[in-house]
Amino acid sequence: MKTEIFTVKSLGERSQLSLNSAATVIKDGGLVIFPTETVYGLGGDATNPSAAKKIYEAKGRPSDNPLIIHVDTPEMAEKYAYTNETYYRLAKAFMPGPLTLILKAKDTVPIETRGGLDTVAVRCPENEVARELIRLSEVPIAAPSANLSGSPSPTSIKHVIDDMLGRVDVIIDGGDCNFGLESTIVKIDGDTPTLLRPGKITPAEISAVIGEIKIASAVTESLKEGERALSPGMKYRHYAPAAPLALISGAAEEKAEYIKNENHSKPAIIAYQDEIETISTAIPNAEVYNFGKREDLETQAHILFYLLREIDKKGYDMIYAPLPEQDGIGLALYNRMIRAAAHKIIRL
Ligand code: TXA
Ligand code: MG
Repeated sequence: MKTEIFTVKSLGERSQLSLNSAATVIKDGGLVIFPTETVYGLGGDATNPSAAKKIYEAKGRPSDNPLIIHVDTPEMAEKYAYTNETYYRLAKAFMPGPLTLILKAKDTVPIETRGGLDTVAVRCPENEVARELIRLSEVPIAAPSANLSGSPSPTSIKHVIDDMLGRVDVIIDGGDCNFGLESTIVKIDGDTPTLLRPGKITPAEISAVIGEIKIASAVTESLKEGERALSPGMKYRHYAPAAPLALISGAAEEKAEYIKNENHSKPAIIAYQDEIETISTAIPNAEVYNFGKREDLETQAHILFYLLREIDKKGYDMIYAPLPEQDGIGLALYNRMIRAAAHKIIRL
């Protein structure tokens, strides 16, 4: 398939031409990759079962893993889901923005889009290019992250092209994604709202609006034998780099000592800025990557997936990264990083 690439970094007269043709592709049942403030999305008409099938195919994703439907206003969800008071309270506080809410679905969302569930995930992205594309398409856009199944979500156009060139009709280049980790997901179709996936909008921020929420155990732990996944995505193997990745906590000197004694021939070490000198000096054969300042979680979230993809191309025999704290958006970093590390944690 020939993929057309349009560059649309902001809205204006010229971007309108590109977005109109992209919207026509969506209306005709084709696939368009578009930027959002979290990660790039691989989009198709959420009301068209054959578009959903194409999305699963292009991604190489099992078709029982449901898709988020993206709306351009919170009210657009009315036609597709049974909204409730919690929905509107959270929408007022955080939409448009990096928050996905799970509601009971209406029949207007085909079973293919929902991965067979009776619920549907709704998200109104903050990125104005994404919202304009939805508005022009006149339907919600179903979109998972635009990576091949098993790779990290793409946060740059380079990584979108690596995975998806030739697999979709259109790619919209909107530059780097602002936040860099996928949206916060909260299930609000039942009694107690439950956090299924942490993101930029934190549990504390959500609780401040709707009161206490539960945190699904799979957010910080692996699913136990026989445990049912609240979100189908939780049960699939997550991205892990080709070389083993371990998360390591302790003082820079202790880390350097530990890693040195492991005698790797070509290790990669992701380190906080204040650890770099100690680690590089102690382990001259290690390639050390800057994860930013220890307290700068926004930068870490912004670069994590980008770094992991770049590191994965270089054939290291071992990768180390810091073990994040679980506070605030640290919980989102922790959640993505323990999965990439297959829960391998070294505490010194
Ligand atoms: O930031 C994001 O949310 C990005 C951008 C493109 O919007 N999208 C994204 O989609 O991360 P995806 O498909 O890669 O991840 C969505 C997760 C999956 O793990 C899926 O299983 C879960 O949401 N999910 C979708 N619908 C659900 C539902 N009805 N009930 C429970 N989990 C659901
Ligand atoms: Mg994904």
